[in-house]
Amino acid sequence: MIKLGVIGLGKFGTNILNSYKQLEKEGICKLVSVCDINEKVLEEQARRYNAKPYKDFKEMLEKEELDGVAIATPDPFHKEPAIYSANKKIHIFVEKPLDITIEGCIEIIEACKKNNVLLQVDFHKRFDPFHIAIKRDIEEGKIGKVEYGSCHMEDKIVVPKDWFPNWAGKSSPVWFLGVHFFDLIRWLIKSNAKSVFAKGIKNKLKSLGIDTYDSVVTIVEFENGAIISFELSWILPENFESIVNQGFRLVGEKGIIECDSQDRGTRVCYENEGVLTYNPVFINKRMDMKGNIIYTGYGIESITDFVYNIKYLKEGIKLEDLKNNSISAFGEDGLEVTKIAVYVHESIEKEKEIKL
Ligand SMILES: NC(=O)c1ccc[n+]([C@@H]2O[C@H](COP(=O)([O-])OP(=O)(O)OC[C@H]3O[C@@H](n4cnc5c(N)ncnc54)[C@H](O)[C@@H]3O)[C@@H](O)[C@H]2O)c1
Repeated sequence: MIKLGVIGLGKFGTNILNSYKQLEKEGICKLVSVCDINEKVLEEQARRYNAKPYKDFKEMLEKEELDGVAIATPDPFHKEPAIYSANKKIHIFVEKPLDITIEGCIEIIEACKKNNVLLQVDFHKRFDPFHIAIKRDIEEGKIGKVEYGSCHMEDKIVVPKDWFPNWAGKSSPVWFLGVHFFDLIRWLIKSNAKSVFAKGIKNKLKSLGIDTYDSVVTIVEFENGAIISFELSWILPENFESIVNQGFRLVGEKGIIECDSQDRGTRVCYENEGVLTYNPVFINKRMDMKGNIIYTGYGIESITDFVYNIKYLKEGIKLEDLKNNSISAFGEDGLEVTKIAVYVHESIEKEKEIKL
């Protein structure tokens, strides 16, 4: 039985808990313990998910013999539990971004290498079935060499203002949103970034006491010559049609691909909510015959994939083989994405193009 722990039990930690509990019902793993520094959150989540509570992740990692741990603490607090877990030889699933510094990513990767530990990063756009189909077409050469493209990912202002006002100031639309599309494009076109040039605006959130960028626009040149722009923001009005607006287009020498990654074709309008669009392939909920809630979607599959990967490793598959045959993002992907995000901020501050 695969024994799991979760560190950080807030909004996204809850998705992880739901995913693990679902696999637990199928007899694949056991959610053993949970950790959060917020005692109220810890007590509620431990009770709800029937797991042993720990306020200190070190104590949890010392006392429980875990096979894997998921880290869903705020962005600046992934590194410490990740390195501690690696040194205890516990496999790691870390929420994006891997770390907010290049040096931090390298430290985590080195600790995992030294201990032969799986390090998986939650870039779940790779599990979106629409994106998987697009990747297949690109690999089959349908659009030829990608020349240029654009991506946009924009959240409603409630995300930085109301969801996590205490750490939004330490984040940005680049860290919170951009990293998803940096990874997706790298994965789709199989190339790393070569240079970035970015501009950012601090205005609305700053006036609300949150000192971070409202929006950032960046151009990234990739090693294979593709030039992709990324439009990132988190100030969309409260009455926008969904929590996030997102999509991308890629143009190659032989074709064009356009994907609305939010609006998958369903539009509704309710009296008190206005017009809404859905992305039901992200996280969806239904009941099975016995009344159990079943969660489906790429937001869940990316999390459960980690547990299956631990299972494969326990069955004797080599870590390198697993990495070569998986669509998941690993530590090295996390590092490449963090490089882009770090240099995007540097480019804004220095007002110049940065070579990676
Ligand atoms: N994959 C995605 O699409 C996605 C979406 C949202 C958030 N995230 C990522 O998930 C992470 C968490 O985001 P969130 O929205 O759930 O934040 P959140 O603020 O809702 O939850 C974070 C939790 O971590 C706890 N915490 C902080 N430091 C801790 C520590 N040292 N030990 C134990 N617990 C600690 C906090 O008390 C809080 O309960 C972030 O890295 C974020 O970028 C990913």
